[in-house]
Amino acid sequence: MLLEWTDGLVLGHERMDDTHREFVDQLNALGEASDDEMLDRLDAFYAHTVAHFEQENEWMRAIAFPPAHCHTAEHEGVLEVMREVRRHLVEKQNYNVGRVLAREIADWFRGHAATMDAMLAQMMNMRGVGENVSELGCAHGGACS
Ligand SMILES: [Fe+2]
Ligand SMILES: [Fe+2]
Repeated sequence: MLLEWTDGLVLGHERMDDTHREFVDQLNALGEASDDEMLDRLDAFYAHTVAHFEQENEWMRAIAFPPAHCHTAEHEGVLEVMREVRRHLVEKQNYNVGRVLAREIADWFRGHAATMDAMLAQMMNMRGVGENVSELGCAHGGACS
C-alpha cells in the first residue's frame, strides 16, 4: 500500500474527508495495478481526481479563499502530469509509469492535504460551507437550481 489512511489525513470536513478517502483508495489501486489493469485504473483515478479538484475549486470560489490561485494551480499541475503519463503509457506501452505516478502523487498528497486542503477545510468549517450542495449553487451568482 502506497498511502495508508490514518487520522493524520482527516481534516475534519466530512465531504472533503470522504472524497480524500476515495482518492487514497484509488491511488493505492493504481499503485498495485497489473499492466492489464493500468489504463482502466488510471482513467478511473483521473476522473475521480478531476471531480475532487473541481469540488475544492468551487468551494474556494464560494468562500473567496485567499490562496485560491496557488491551490488551483497545484491541482492543475497534477492533472497535467496525469495526462502526460497517460499519453506516455499509451504511446510507449510503458505501464510502469502508472506505478511511478502513483508513488509521486502519494508524496505530493501528504503535503497538499496538510497545507492547502487543511486550510480550506478549516475555513469552510468556520463558515459552514460545503455541508449541502445548495449553498454552493448560491455562491455562483444566483445559479441555484
Ligand atoms: Fe483535496
Ligand atoms: Fe486541494
